[in-house]
Amino acid sequence: EARPLVLSVESSCDETAMALIDGHGRICANVVATSIDFHARFGGVVPEIASRKHVEAIVGVFEETMAQAGRHFGCDTLTADDLDAVGVTAGPGLVGALVVGVAFAKGLSAAADLPLVPVNHLEGHMLANLFAAPDLRPPFVASLVSGGNTMLVHVRAWGDYQILGATIDDAVGEAFDKVAKALGLGYPGGPVISRLAARGNRKAIHFPRAMMHSGDYRFSLSGLKTAVITYIEGEMRAGRPIDLPDLAASFEAAVIDVQVAKALAAVEETGVGDFCVGGGVAANPQLREAYVRKFSRRGVRVSVPPMAVCGDNGAMIAVCALRSLRADADFVERPETGLPLDA
Ligand code: KG4
Repeated sequence: EARPLVLSVESSCDETAMALIDGHGRICANVVATSIDFHARFGGVVPEIASRKHVEAIVGVFEETMAQAGRHFGCDTLTADDLDAVGVTAGPGLVGALVVGVAFAKGLSAAADLPLVPVNHLEGHMLANLFAAPDLRPPFVASLVSGGNTMLVHVRAWGDYQILGATIDDAVGEAFDKVAKALGLGYPGGPVISRLAARGNRKAIHFPRAMMHSGDYRFSLSGLKTAVITYIEGEMRAGRPIDLPDLAASFEAAVIDVQVAKALAAVEETGVGDFCVGGGVAANPQLREAYVRKFSRRGVRVSVPPMAVCGDNGAMIAVCALRSLRADADFVERPETGLPLDA
């Protein structure tokens, strides 16, 4: 195997996740336990529940990760002595949730005398792209879209990240979740809205493209959410049935048009030839397709993470830890034998 063997711990929101990767960036184990079912009836993640579920899950997730890695290497299980480093999500995220993963990682690193590498969760979402595009190298522009964040980042070099702009209110994933909640479609809203949108008419209802022409890289999603809710209320008052696919497609189109236009402007202004998307919303097929269609025409290469690592996971955190341990530009030793995820 290729050293170092890096174990990672992720607990920033409602997933307790760990992974083990080798020096090629190859995934030897990847385990995700989610507490999403316990939050669903509240229409969003409840921080206190998330924290408690991490406490309950974390030892089991560790044991499963070490057992999976053991199978990968042809033995029963790995032990802490087999590891070379521990990476852990240090933020951003829910403080009470983060603290569970950080406490576990610190304990492991102290007990087994391993270096502890703090990782930024958003860098994780960005580097998840390496599992699909192992040759992705800075400079590039990244769009990070999740339940808690919406931003455009100019990656000038690994570790040198310039935030070009971010949302001034709701995140994109949050807008999907709130619209789904208003329609009684449950939580999380992204997957169900995008499935409906796929068979709807994106031009059926006109919703505002907020800050489309603001001349900067800031976003605003809360007005769009209000416009959709106002539309739903109006139709219900008038006794008209709501066409869910058309509504979903029209809402999604308003989001996508702004995301694509601003990302294009960022790519043009920075002059980079590569663009990538990260975060839970990167799993949206219409968004992925819109980027590929609009950017390829301009000769810009678009990367999207494999579906399996769009949501929160340990593998993306482990890759960031590996990058921190190796300060050089090509921190993955042999991308051709590592990284790509069989998903
Ligand atoms: O990255 P993630 O798992 O957690 C955060 O760090 O926030 O992202 C979760 C978010 C949720 O808001 C969820 O509704 C959204 O990603 N999401 C989607 C889709 N799948 C998940 N949004 C739009 N379309 C999707 N297909």
